[in-house]
Formats: sequence, C-alpha cells, structure tokens
Amino acid sequence: MDAILVVGGAGYVGSHACKALAQAGYKPVTLDNLRTGHADAVKWGPLIEADFGDADAVRAAVRQHGVTAAMHFGALSLVAESVAEPARYYANNVAGTLRLLQALGDEGVGRIVFSSSAAVYGEASSDPIPEDAPLNPINPYGETKRVIEGALRFIGRAQGLAWCALRYFNAAGADEAGEIGERHEPETHLIPNVLQAVRAGRPVKLFGSDYPTPDGSVVRDYVHVSDLADAHVAALKFLGDGGESQPMNLGSGAGLSVLQIVAAAERVLGHPIAAEMGPRRAGDPPCLVADPNRAKRLLHWTPGRSDVDNLIATTAAFEATRPIRQR
Ligand code: UFG
Repeated sequence: MDAILVVGGAGYVGSHACKALAQAGYKPVTLDNLRTGHADAVKWGPLIEADFGDADAVRAAVRQHGVTAAMHFGALSLVAESVAEPARYYANNVAGTLRLLQALGDEGVGRIVFSSSAAVYGEASSDPIPEDAPLNPINPYGETKRVIEGALRFIGRAQGLAWCALRYFNAAGADEAGEIGERHEPETHLIPNVLQAVRAGRPVKLFGSDYPTPDGSVVRDYVHVSDLADAHVAALKFLGDGGESQPMNLGSGAGLSVLQIVAAAERVLGHPIAAEMGPRRAGDPPCLVADPNRAKRLLHWTPGRSDVDNLIATTAAFEATRPIRQR
C-alpha cells in the first residue's frame, strides 16, 4: 500500500482527501498541528501531531511510514485575517511550506499535490477563468498561494519534485456518508452559515446587493469537497504516470449568486429562509467562475457531486449532527 503524507489531513478538504485516498487503496498519513484541524476527522490512517514547517518531524514521518508522495492542505486560510496579520500568513503558508518542501526533498519524495486557490487570480479578468489568466491576488492569503506556486516551479525542477497546484474555487458540501464535514471556527463560508442560521432561528446575513452581476449579489463557483478529494487522487496518479507539473482549476464551471444559493437552500429545506441583506464584505470580487477543462481533460475528472442541491443537502445533513451555533 503506497503511503501518502497528507499535510493538513485533519482539516476540511484534507480529511475528505484521506477518505478518497483510502478508498483508492492508499495509506493516508496525516501530519497536522490540530490548531484548526480536528483529530476525530482523521479516520483512515495514522495522525502525526506536528507543524508542517518542522522539518525534523516531516522527515521522521516520511521515513517511519515509507511515504512516496505528499498532499499539502496545511495553511492559514481566512482572507480577512490574512489582511490583518499578513506576516503570520507569510510565515506559516510560505516559510513553513518552503521548509516542508526541503524536508520532502531530503527524503527523496518525488510528487506533491498542493492546495492552491482561486484567490491567486484576484479580480477575475474573464468569466470563466482559465489557468493562464493573470495572477493578481488582492489579499495576503492569495499571495501566499501564488508565491508557493512559483516556488514549486523552480524547486520542483531542482529537486526532481513533480507537482500539481490545484486551484479550488468554492469548496462546499460534506461527505455523503456523513462521516466528516466542514467545521471551521469561525465559519465564514456562505452555505454552512445559511444552514447554521436556519437551525439557530436567526436571519442569515448577506453581504452586498449592488455588485455588477445579474441579481446584484456575488457569483461564485461551488464545488463539492468530495469532488475536490477525487481530483487530488487523480492528480497523484497523473504525476505518477509522468504527467507534466502544472496548475489546474477545480470548479464546476457554473456560477451561482448568493441569492441563488439562498433560494436553493429554501427549495432543498422546503421552507422560506429569513435573510438580512447588508453592505458588501471587504475584498469580495464580484464573480469568480472556473474554466475546469484542464482538470477534466488531464485528470479525467468530473465534478459529479457538485450540483447545488447536493451541496446544500450534504451540508445540512452534517450540520444536523453538530450543536446549534448561536452567533
Ligand atoms: N457571504 C454572505 N454571508 C455569509 C458568508 C458569505 O453573504 O455569511 C457571501 C460573501 O460575502 C461572498 C459569498 O457569500 O459574497 C461567498 O463567500 P464565501 O466566504 O463562502 O467564499 P469566498 O468566495 O469569499 O471564499 C473562497 C474560499 C477562500 C478563497 C476565496 C477566493 O473560501 O479560501 O474563495 O476568493 F480565498
């Protein structure tokens, strides 16, 4: 059984990737400092509690488990926090990742799948966005992802490390068997916030109705977290078969507005949802929609679980297992 180091495997996307790896016959070895991850989300392989920037811990994990490849989900990922504390974001997401890459190189690990983000594009220059669109991140979070993509290009070549940088659009939904889901503290994402507000009996707060979009609210490309997980396994195989190192967008290719998400949630839940429309949230680009054709073509990937009803139904089922959040 091939052992794969899953950095950040206790987090939202990372834990779903561990499940997909196990189902595909790999042994996922999670390395996570559990600052934002959850130990009880690590169900499909061992958990090593360590920082990914701790090169000794990474080297020891690789040797102990005979790791042949890595996936790197570990990052601070709150956009507003990154604006307030950029140095912490650079230290963790950039400096920490450089130490991780060095440690993997020391141990001869030859493949890595890196979690990048649509945040590398900043304000979209086209709709949909292809991978060769200009990279103009508008916040430190997106900039840290862009810097690591650039570093992978050079370090990969020097170190014999094949890489894919998977640029997620809006990860959403939860494991269809209900074993794992999204548990951010604080939660900033739209779909879980809608469902948490409904359960708590308070109106959901929506940010901005004056965008240059068809209904005035922000348009995003929501993609199911288990579809993202499958793309990681496919990218690992792609690199193993000699596929070229490159970035790939992961999105459904379809845009949905904030108001359309609320309407879909009303349809799925079967009752009206109280919403309070407020001003724009700082730093939200009006519209980000992926051109996912590269991943579809090269990884033979289909985002088959990403229809909006399934995103909402799987999130609602997972939320129903959690305490009601009053906030
Ligand atoms: N929104 C609300 N109410 C909420 C939460 C969000 O109206 O309670 C709105 C936001 O203002 C935005 C839209 O819903 O207009 C989507 O917001 P999310 O926070 O769900 O997602 P983002 O598109 O802001 O963030 C995602 C990823 C980030 C990444 C970013 C890149 O989660 O990691 O895309 O733009 F950095």
